[in-house]
Amino acid sequence: MQAYQLEAFGLDHLRRTDSAVPPPGPGEVAVDVDALSLNYRDLMVIKGLYNPKLRLPAVPVSDGAGVVSAVGAGVTRVRVGDRVASHFVSGWIDGPFRQAYLATTLGTPATGLAAERVILPAEAVVPWPAGYSAAEAATLPIAALTAWSALVTVGDVRPGQTVLTLGTGGVAIWTLQLAKAMGARVIITSSRDDKLERCRALGADVTINYTREPEWDAAVLEQTSGEGADLTVETAGPGTLDRSLKATRAGGTVALLGALTGRQGTVTTGLILMKRLRVCGIMVDSRAAFEAMNRFIAEKRIRPVIDRTFPFDRLVDALRCLEVGEHFGKIVVHVREDG
Ligand SMILES: NC(=O)c1ccc[n+]([C@@H]2O[C@H](COP(=O)([O-])OP(=O)(O)OC[C@H]3O[C@@H](n4cnc5c(N)ncnc54)[C@H](OP(=O)(O)O)[C@@H]3O)[C@@H](O)[C@H]2O)c1
Repeated sequence: MQAYQLEAFGLDHLRRTDSAVPPPGPGEVAVDVDALSLNYRDLMVIKGLYNPKLRLPAVPVSDGAGVVSAVGAGVTRVRVGDRVASHFVSGWIDGPFRQAYLATTLGTPATGLAAERVILPAEAVVPWPAGYSAAEAATLPIAALTAWSALVTVGDVRPGQTVLTLGTGGVAIWTLQLAKAMGARVIITSSRDDKLERCRALGADVTINYTREPEWDAAVLEQTSGEGADLTVETAGPGTLDRSLKATRAGGTVALLGALTGRQGTVTTGLILMKRLRVCGIMVDSRAAFEAMNRFIAEKRIRPVIDRTFPFDRLVDALRCLEVGEHFGKIVVHVREDG
């Protein structure tokens, strides 16, 4: 079975290897992976920015979908032949988040999905919405579930409320699609007009080019009668956080999840306290939330936006494509031709 191994940090050190995969142990399943989707996190892991102490070699890439090909002793949740997506924080089944769950995230420190067959805990797989392809299902575990976490688990978004999100990457486009299906008004920013046009086609109510309008927080206030968004889904991090705080209404929520501009910086804390803002960190979500999201997606018939696809032997090219940020929504890698 073919797999990619990260032998040293950097995209140049990702090697395709061939090795036998052992049968699943007790409580485990073997999944024949049909498709992967890429997340910004995968790049950070590969470059050594996410966890510089990561033990190598390691199989990267967090998100995938495929078919259960074998089950270990004691597994009753899933059966051979079931079509499943991976669950990123694999130890987080339900209830509040716990620090210990960080040791269970797929694509390091737990195994990644960049392989033809992977062994996963039976608890770490989720059936995907009816009618989805494996490629579509592979977009769900991080990007869609993070958007859901921001909108539902943290944001408690109601119809008619205003949601602001930044950029047009995987999480932001899933935020746009889910928020529109919830009846929210969506404001979205991008560096490119052609991407904003695609956002309008997906239902975005207000689009702002943050390159042409560097004071985009003022533009958000203009579009919200001076009040600001009820919920801001902060995908970019410290470089944009102050403007996000300004663009959020008093008493509103900022779902802080992104690191596109880095993982540390200064923040004007006065904005948080004077506006009584709730700033809430996001670490994707639980399996129970994943299952609830899948029911919503099936009911609302939402299809993911897959911008570009690559074959498995071009995984590194797909990661370089993610790195330059020209994509809109998701990039998918087909591990099997028909996956
Ligand atoms: N905490 C969590 O649970 C969690 C989960 C998922 C993702 N994340 C993080 O969230 C971020 C987004 O992830 P992703 O996978 O959606 O990334 P992605 O698909 O790589 O998104 C890249 C897009 O973000 C936009 N962008 C880049 N810099 C920006 C800036 N300064 N201001 C506004 N937009 C900017 C660009 O959109 P335009 O080209 O339109 O300008 C770019 O194309 C990453 O930092 C990722 O690590 C966190």
